[in-house]
Amino acid sequence: MSKLSTQEIVNLSKEYTFFSWSVQGQVNPIPVEKAEGIYFWDTDGKRYIDFSSQLMNTNIGHQHPKVVKAIQDQAAKLCFVHPGNTTDVRAKLGKRLAEVTPGNLKKTFFALGGAEANENAIKIARFYTGRHKILAQYRSYHGATHGSIALTGDYRRLAVEPTMPGGVHFLNPHCYRCPFGQKKESCKRECILHLEEVIQYEGPDKIAAIIMEGVVGSNGIIVPPDDYWPRVREICDKYGILLISDEVMSGWGRTGEWFAVDNWNVVPDIITTAKGITSGYAPLGAVIVSDKIAEFFEDKYLYAGLTYNGHALSCAAALATIDVYEEDNLIENAKKLGNYLGECLEDIKSRHPSVGDVRCIGLFSTIELVADRDTKEIMPTSIMAEVGKVLRQNGLFTFIMANNMGSMVFVVPPLCITKEQLDEGLAIVEKALEVADKQVK
Ligand SMILES: Cc1ncc(COP(=O)(O)O)c(C=O)c1O
Repeated sequence: MSKLSTQEIVNLSKEYTFFSWSVQGQVNPIPVEKAEGIYFWDTDGKRYIDFSSQLMNTNIGHQHPKVVKAIQDQAAKLCFVHPGNTTDVRAKLGKRLAEVTPGNLKKTFFALGGAEANENAIKIARFYTGRHKILAQYRSYHGATHGSIALTGDYRRLAVEPTMPGGVHFLNPHCYRCPFGQKKESCKRECILHLEEVIQYEGPDKIAAIIMEGVVGSNGIIVPPDDYWPRVREICDKYGILLISDEVMSGWGRTGEWFAVDNWNVVPDIITTAKGITSGYAPLGAVIVSDKIAEFFEDKYLYAGLTYNGHALSCAAALATIDVYEEDNLIENAKKLGNYLGECLEDIKSRHPSVGDVRCIGLFSTIELVADRDTKEIMPTSIMAEVGKVLRQNGLFTFIMANNMGSMVFVVPPLCITKEQLDEGLAIVEKALEVADKQVK
């Protein structure tokens, strides 16, 4: 087949394929030709710094030769078997996941992505507890399918309601925009009291699980206070409620630990994950459950299944990816450079009046833009579009949030980034912030 021109790629993609979360006539995709490490290039040879690891998933960076080779070798040997059969890579990956996840998390149900992982976690929690409600935070995203979107608290749920019954939402611990009107000095962890009150109203014996993102991702990198996760763990134990950590975005070294909950030494009953598990090289999701939950299904039917459960190519990609995290010291790098990034962001905040808040844990960070620092008025979406234009013109690709919950520029680069590369990207971000600074009242 002959090679398409840049314009043909864009035009045919727009004419014949749907793009997610967008008005179709307004999409403006970059036609990507190749990628390496923290960079990718479009079909005209323009280079971009990838400051969002694509969709916060290419954690090891692009085209790592070890993972590419693992997929090639597996494809040459065996691409697929019936999900009721098994393979060398499935066996090894199951064991590796038990090793890298905390505490007694042991047995994995494989899916193809984050939404499917959460769908199956809902089923498992309901079967195990015999209860049906699942509590989740308002500022959260758990996936776009029927059950996962019911748990999602943000605007993406509203458009597709009614969703799965039984999803109940509660307010986040969000220190910059505290929903309880508190300041750091006066905070009495009203967020915890609120959660317990919601549990009482909903009936503790009706609640199967509480699901939370390890650190809230696409709703604005909301890092909870240090005692939050441990206290939710205590509440769950008190009422026999399962605790699910959605580590789809916050897992795999992103926060400077294997999983975000490791920052607070909390062991959830279930971890759901995807994205960084293969770093995006092949689709894979996983529901990793405690030994107790695993034991429960020894003599009970697991009503869950997918044709591609334990797909050999994805398992091979995941095994090689986990090796890369270890061999290239990527989790240590995320922690070390995360500290540096945190300092840089504070410095940026001190020099740009449009920056209301910066939040950072590991290489998981955001710059929240406001039109007025005192009132915290959200920077208008039209200005965020201008900010985005400057970033793109200057060869930086990242995730921008602009809605009635906040306006933000995310800094979530691959974990293999160097200090020099981080500086190079942040310099472009600062150039874009000048556009926003002009709008400040
Ligand atoms: C925390 C979280 N959970 C679940 C999902 C859904 O994952 P997927 O898009 O692979 O279905 C996402 C996607 O961004 C996510 O960030």
